[in-house]
Amino acid sequence: MFLRDRATQAEYFDAPERTPAELRLHYAQLNRINRLTQFDRPFRIWVPQLVTDPSSLTFLDLGSGDGSLGQTLHTWAARQNWSWEFTHLDVNPVTRELDSNPRHFLGSVTALPFPDHSHDVVIATTMTHHLSETEVIQHFREAQRVAKRLVLICDLHRNRFFWLALAALMWSIRLPREFRQDGLLSVERGWQVPEWRRLAGAAGLINARVWQEHGTRILLAVVKDGYGR
Ligand SMILES: C[S@@+](CC[C@H](N)C(=O)[O-])C[C@H]1O[C@@H](n2cnc3c(N)ncnc32)[C@H](O)[C@@H]1O
Repeated sequence: MFLRDRATQAEYFDAPERTPAELRLHYAQLNRINRLTQFDRPFRIWVPQLVTDPSSLTFLDLGSGDGSLGQTLHTWAARQNWSWEFTHLDVNPVTRELDSNPRHFLGSVTALPFPDHSHDVVIATTMTHHLSETEVIQHFREAQRVAKRLVLICDLHRNRFFWLALAALMWSIRLPREFRQDGLLSVERGWQVPEWRRLAGAAGLINARVWQEHGTRILLAVVKDGYGR
């Protein structure tokens, strides 16, 4: 049955032969989709619920791309009179040129260049589906290691309804064919709740909560400071 098993085909924009110009355009198109789908919403909703006092937090965004999520959340938090400060990490060197945040590191989510408990909140969005299952286990372990208070990871939920809705959305806003193909492949490479529960268990995450929202997003949260609700 279509989407029962996860696809393993590599995405077009992950190929090493993509030029910096192609990648810049790719991140700009990703931003259009991110804004339309409110990619910051799960973090606005869940972080204040899962940490005791959200008024002053340091974040590490894994697979941060051009840094849009951190910028969006920083601005939103400032409107609440909160201080949310972001460090970014991505494996693709082009992202450093695109990101205005000076705390942007190049590296892999499977081997984070940070000490244990060095960031209050470790987040990721639309990144984990780029990894193999073995890499996901290491990514979850590393996220838990460097987080002091909360890990909150969000990605694409693999199901046919979402695949069709995303196809329609990307077609209606006239995104280029390669981007649309990667978008659908991202859902095909996406996750279902039992899979993340299994991988979180294999990573040794204690008390990991995994759930899906609106059929489109899958989330994993680990509350570490003992005060989260
Ligand atoms: C679909 S983009 C999402 C970017 C950003 N999170 C957003 O939502 O706009 C996935 C990002 O994950 C990065 N990525 C993929 N594998 C990675 C790894 N092993 N370590 C760090 N970043 C990775 C890619 O370079 C890319 O920037």
